[in-house]
Amino acid sequence: MHLQKLVINGGKKLNGEIRIQGAKNAALPIMAAAVLCGKAGEKVTLRNCPRISDVYAAMRILTYLGCKASFEDGTAVIIPENVSRPEISDELMREMRSSIFFLGAILGRTGRCRITLPGGCDLGPRPIDMHISALRKMGVTIKEEYGALDCRAEKGLTGAKISLSFPSVGTTENIMMAAALAEGTTVIGNAAREPEVADLAEFLNRCGAKINGAGGGKIVINGVKELHGCDYEIMPDRIACATYLACTASAGGELAVTGCRPWDVESILPVFEQMGCSVYTLDDKIFFSANRPLKAVNPIRTMVYPGFPTDAQAPVMASLCKARGTSVFVENIFESRYKHVAGLTRMGADILVEGKVAVIEGVNRLYGVKTEAPDLRGGAGLVAAALAADGTSEITNIQYIDRGYEEIEKVLSSLGADIKRV
Ligand code: UD1
Repeated sequence: MHLQKLVINGGKKLNGEIRIQGAKNAALPIMAAAVLCGKAGEKVTLRNCPRISDVYAAMRILTYLGCKASFEDGTAVIIPENVSRPEISDELMREMRSSIFFLGAILGRTGRCRITLPGGCDLGPRPIDMHISALRKMGVTIKEEYGALDCRAEKGLTGAKISLSFPSVGTTENIMMAAALAEGTTVIGNAAREPEVADLAEFLNRCGAKINGAGGGKIVINGVKELHGCDYEIMPDRIACATYLACTASAGGELAVTGCRPWDVESILPVFEQMGCSVYTLDDKIFFSANRPLKAVNPIRTMVYPGFPTDAQAPVMASLCKARGTSVFVENIFESRYKHVAGLTRMGADILVEGKVAVIEGVNRLYGVKTEAPDLRGGAGLVAAALAADGTSEITNIQYIDRGYEEIEKVLSSLGADIKRV
């Protein structure tokens, strides 16, 4: 499976309509949160779950824990009545970074949990110190032994006032999950305001939790005794949306995106407008047209929501490689998030990276090359660039891309791209 690659003949314009997949970064924490819904006989039905490998990994974790879990046609059905094994094997933890969300959920449900340190894309150091200190404040004793964390809250978790030094998405979500069934009230200060945090809160509230303020900087969680199941539709994926817009900007053409939430990508749309693309939004649709040649844009600084998302940095950078003039990125969230630059440069892009800053000098041509996806979003960036390159590109290591994009080659070929998986 790891030997699969994407073969792309560049130079075809994109044209058509796509319906955006469900959000990876909402689906994963919500699947973990399902563990909290332990009321006897209850089930959690999650619709619009993306068919991506990270979701399958989360399903395997749920089964490992003792839950019943099945997935069909984008709907996950989880029966969490039984959580017999409050631990996650090293193998499963390594499969994805998001396995860390299970910590808050399992602890909230059972009062103990044993995990090893999580894997996931290598974006430089991704510590979990904030997760750990927050859980300690809630009465959890955490021992580190042989690369594993042994967490216990013998007397159950207790609400706490927790202020984050940085509004970490995963930490905010973990605290919400741990607090949902805790004794008393938890207040998160400087909470992450990402829409996926609000989606998780909405899901938990539908299950009977009492969470207020998610989506803002202060979240208040009043612990309840138990949570029941519910039927929930995962929000649309704003990063996949940005990625397909970037692919269209890069290749040229016209794209209609349906089933999305334009306000979630409000920091990204003006960047495309500056490039010279036209963007028109109506309800849950974005009508997009790339008018080439594209123009370079003002410096783009990645920030926490509602700023420009770090996850859209690579795809948008790819579309700027052939823009006229000089564009600048400042990556403020992750330390090592320019790994796609090597591949873009091999295609002929002119990019200089110095620490957090990348300077892109627009070139007239990109050339098809053999290259490998360095991580999920970086891989998507290489795909976007390959669509605009002369000749054939071969992208290997696409297991990274499959972590977050539902059949990227089918979506792009439906729009007229010459792309296949071999
Ligand atoms: C989530 C997203 C990821 C996105 C990121 C930033 C999911 C599954 N993943 O990741 O796609 O790129 O938000 O929007 O939702 N940090 C610490 N200590 C901690 C936790 C985080 O120092 O305990 C640092 C990280 O190293 C990083 C920054 O905080 O530099 C942001 O991380 P965080 O917001 O936690 O991202 P994730 O939840 O891992």
